[in-house]
Amino acid sequence: MIVRPMQPEDYPGLVELWSSFPGNAMTGADSEAGFTSFLKRNGSYCFAAVDSDGIVGSVMAGEDSRRGYIYHLSVKKELHRSGTGRLLMDTVEKALYDAGIEKIHLFIFSDNPAIEFYRKTGWHLRNDIEVMSKVLRGDRYMGTRKT
Ligand SMILES: CC(C)(COP(=O)(O)OP(=O)(O)OC[C@H]1O[C@@H](n2cnc3c(N)ncnc32)[C@H](O)[C@@H]1OP(=O)(O)O)[C@@H](O)C(=O)NCCC(=O)NCCS
Repeated sequence: MIVRPMQPEDYPGLVELWSSFPGNAMTGADSEAGFTSFLKRNGSYCFAAVDSDGIVGSVMAGEDSRRGYIYHLSVKKELHRSGTGRLLMDTVEKALYDAGIEKIHLFIFSDNPAIEFYRKTGWHLRNDIEVMSKVLRGDRYMGTRKT
């Protein structure tokens, strides 16, 4: 298994991976056009884990020169607890650190067991911040979570 920069051609394999987690929120930003546009802007912070079966893991991040934001950390179920998630996060965190980013954030549903993964990899849960959201374009959710 290797971790390498994500490519536009990875899209079908990534959608298959992301769709295998029912709680995973996929929005209009996960359309092929949205994915390609994100990669164009943030390609140096998007990585795929690949083995002989194809795409087995992913992480995407973007930055605004001030903070970095992590999206779509996912590892194929059969490979959970084998260090792949940590490897993907180490890779993206190094890329953001090398770009001078001071702090990174991520959004996670409060019932997602992956919170424990993040705790073990150096993240802490904030209890001093609420997230507010506003939809500017349509209702283009592709996934199961509508909040
Ligand atoms: C979160 C996820 C990427 C972790 O991937 P992984 O390859 O299993 O993680 P690792 O094997 O690198 O685990 C690193 C550490 O976290 C621990 N860990 C991983 N998942 C855990 C869980 N659900 N509960 C508790 N600890 C967990 C591992 O045991 C390991 O601990 P150790 O260093 O003490 O041995 C994977 O569970 C996943 O794809 N989940 C579904 C998608 C998802 O919800 N992503 C987050 C979106 S915000």
